[in-house]
Amino acid sequence: MTAADRFSGKTALVTGAGGGFGRAISARLAAGGAQVALLDRDRSAAEETARIIEEDGGTATVFGVDLTDPDAVDDAVFGTVKAYGGLHICVNNAGIGGEMSLLADYPLEAWRQVVDVNLNSVFYCLQSQLRAMTSGAAPAGGAIVNIASIMSTVAMANISAYVASKHAVLGLTRAAALEYGPSGIRVNAVGPSFSRVGFTAEKIDDDRQWEAMAAQHPLGRTATPQDVATAVTQLVSDEAAYITGQLHLVDGGYTLH
Ligand SMILES: NC(=O)c1ccc[n+]([C@@H]2O[C@H](COP(=O)([O-])OP(=O)(O)OC[C@H]3O[C@@H](n4cnc5c(N)ncnc54)[C@H](O)[C@@H]3O)[C@@H](O)[C@H]2O)c1
Repeated sequence: MTAADRFSGKTALVTGAGGGFGRAISARLAAGGAQVALLDRDRSAAEETARIIEEDGGTATVFGVDLTDPDAVDDAVFGTVKAYGGLHICVNNAGIGGEMSLLADYPLEAWRQVVDVNLNSVFYCLQSQLRAMTSGAAPAGGAIVNIASIMSTVAMANISAYVASKHAVLGLTRAAALEYGPSGIRVNAVGPSFSRVGFTAEKIDDDRQWEAMAAQHPLGRTATPQDVATAVTQLVSDEAAYITGQLHLVDGGYTLH
């Protein structure tokens, strides 16, 4: 099997598909032959991802959806099954950074927003995806990756909501893997280090700060969307058939300190 037909005949769904990691992951799945459903609340960003995929000869459908709405998530998941006749690969990638402040001062509304997007939406996605993968509407079996973070195993000051939400995503990943292994569904998490894309790039817009962050990684650089897409496509491929419930760090050694 070549890289071009690794996922042929498979349907994949990626959330946050208009963002930095989501676009790279979606493009890589499509390049492997998957037909890809692109979910994002920023419809035009997801449409740009679709354009890139189609220009490369791939197939994609866009769903403009706010993932904090469980009914909208369910419609998009079952809309994907209806459009493509199945669901085999899901990547729950959408996330936000949230406010930065010490825990005692962390604004309640900001806490709720981070937990809603980074944790609750992953729960809603898993519920619909697991129902779709185990119902008659789609063939049994599948592979799911939740995009976690290095902040699923370590912490950083001023981002308690983010750290807590990403630790929780790992717990959810393990619970789902345990419950759905017998149904042939593997659920793993990928934990990237800092990457100069999306909300992280917006928050830290200073070359010297990025150089200092790169120096904190034994491999001497921060992560790229391609690093993340490589780990995700490995984990959802049949080559990882015996791997489930794991956090696969993509961190250049950051967490070894
Ligand atoms: N960039 C980093 O440094 C970094 C590091 C580790 C983990 N991550 C994680 O990787 C994932 C992707 O991050 P990114 O860096 O590509 O960010 P990004 O901002 O480029 O992409 C996030 C995407 O999610 C979408 N989104 C956000 N909230 C949504 C909602 N409620 N409904 C639907 N779509 C929504 C956004 O519109 C955006 O397109 C996130 O889960 C993030 O926590 C990022």
